[in-house]
Amino acid sequence: MQDQRLKDFLKEFIISDSQLQELYKRFTSEIQKGLTLATHQQADIKCYMTYVQDLPTGDEKGNYLALDLGGTNFRVLRVSLQGHHEAQIDSKVYVVDKELMTGHGTKLFDHIANCLAEFVDEHALNDQHLPLGFTFSFPCVQVGLTEALLTRWTKGFRCAGVEQEDVGRLLKEAIARRGDLEIDVMALLNDTTGTLMSCAHRNPECRIGVIIGTGCNACYVERVENADLLEPEYKVDKPNILVNTEWGAFGESGKLEFVRTDYDRKVDKDSLNRGGQLFEKMISGMYLGELVRLVLADAITQNLIFVRSGEKQRLTNILKDNAGCVETRFISEIENDTFPAFLQTRNILKELLGLENVSVEDCQKLKYICECISKRAANLVAVGISGLINKIAEPHVVVGVDGSVYRLHPHFDTYLREAMQKLVNPKINYELMLSEDGSGRGAALVAAVASKN
Ligand code: BGC
Repeated sequence: MQDQRLKDFLKEFIISDSQLQELYKRFTSEIQKGLTLATHQQADIKCYMTYVQDLPTGDEKGNYLALDLGGTNFRVLRVSLQGHHEAQIDSKVYVVDKELMTGHGTKLFDHIANCLAEFVDEHALNDQHLPLGFTFSFPCVQVGLTEALLTRWTKGFRCAGVEQEDVGRLLKEAIARRGDLEIDVMALLNDTTGTLMSCAHRNPECRIGVIIGTGCNACYVERVENADLLEPEYKVDKPNILVNTEWGAFGESGKLEFVRTDYDRKVDKDSLNRGGQLFEKMISGMYLGELVRLVLADAITQNLIFVRSGEKQRLTNILKDNAGCVETRFISEIENDTFPAFLQTRNILKELLGLENVSVEDCQKLKYICECISKRAANLVAVGISGLINKIAEPHVVVGVDGSVYRLHPHFDTYLREAMQKLVNPKINYELMLSEDGSGRGAALVAAVASKN
């Protein structure tokens, strides 16, 4: 892409090396603050204890149920752990519509219990009294493995009556209201914890689980002596504890202002959780499409793209009036498209804006806009992962990664590695590993490991 004016316009999305280093410094300091009792309250990154202290050995066996709420879909799963690092999974996706996402919590939990009952029925599991792991992917203060108080909703959920409540209790109550299910809720966990457990099940050197999907977050293995928030009795027998960082909240006390743009501020202002999850809002699938929508509308207004169409007003109106119309998967499709045909890009532009006969140059420009936004996201994730790898400081660290952005975007992994190269201690070897169903297999593993203790 040669257009200097467009390059200048997008400059604020390019993270320079010195900004990357500064972000790294601020990130690691926030992690430390979160871990330390005296500063925990003020920390953006809370570093919550998960009460998971054992990684799986791979020998785990047994049948489990799992629930997965908080990603792209709500799912119920049956997981059969078979030893030898193997697991077999059946699952079903259920719809959670906007009304449920923003209605009263009782309705949401009743829906979850109903889907669970339907699944149990369909799989004839009624008499088996299976233990259940609940992957609940929102920030929670865990009181133990089966008690977790929701700190705040994220990612477009906002159900009344759930914040500060124990989501384990809410689930058990909904199950009890039905009266026909016999299920033991054995563990509550975050999807990042599930990802870490699931990857460790296949590769024992896994120490970090990352989600880059609808939301963004990471969990890692910390030594108990560094975990100030952990009660002393958990420090006697076990050397480690999994920590759910909730790094999506980074920036809430102003630490990201030097890289945030007015587009980021607008995305935040229009969100359900204003002022919250500012790091996440620069990275995750729920927001990347929105950033492209806003940037593209401005670029059109400033005569930087689609000038030949002579339809500036119509195009900007469509973009400005239709929040959510640029889906994050479009970014992946556009960045995956090939010069000079740009077939995917043309299809998207026709569908989205009714534009036809778009020039090759305009397709290249749109691709460049997408690249700037997704590269910035990858740079930010790199700051987080590198910070954790260097903190763990083992000679070889495996990182399990999952989430729709990471899976679907054609170059996210490459952008991520490029930036990590600049930040990870060169003495440490690291590996990024694609996670296989962390929320399902991981939930079963947490339940399995818990029942061993
Ligand atoms: C939540 C995290 C979750 C992440 C990825 C964030 O919005 O706060 O708990 O791990 O999304 O799903």
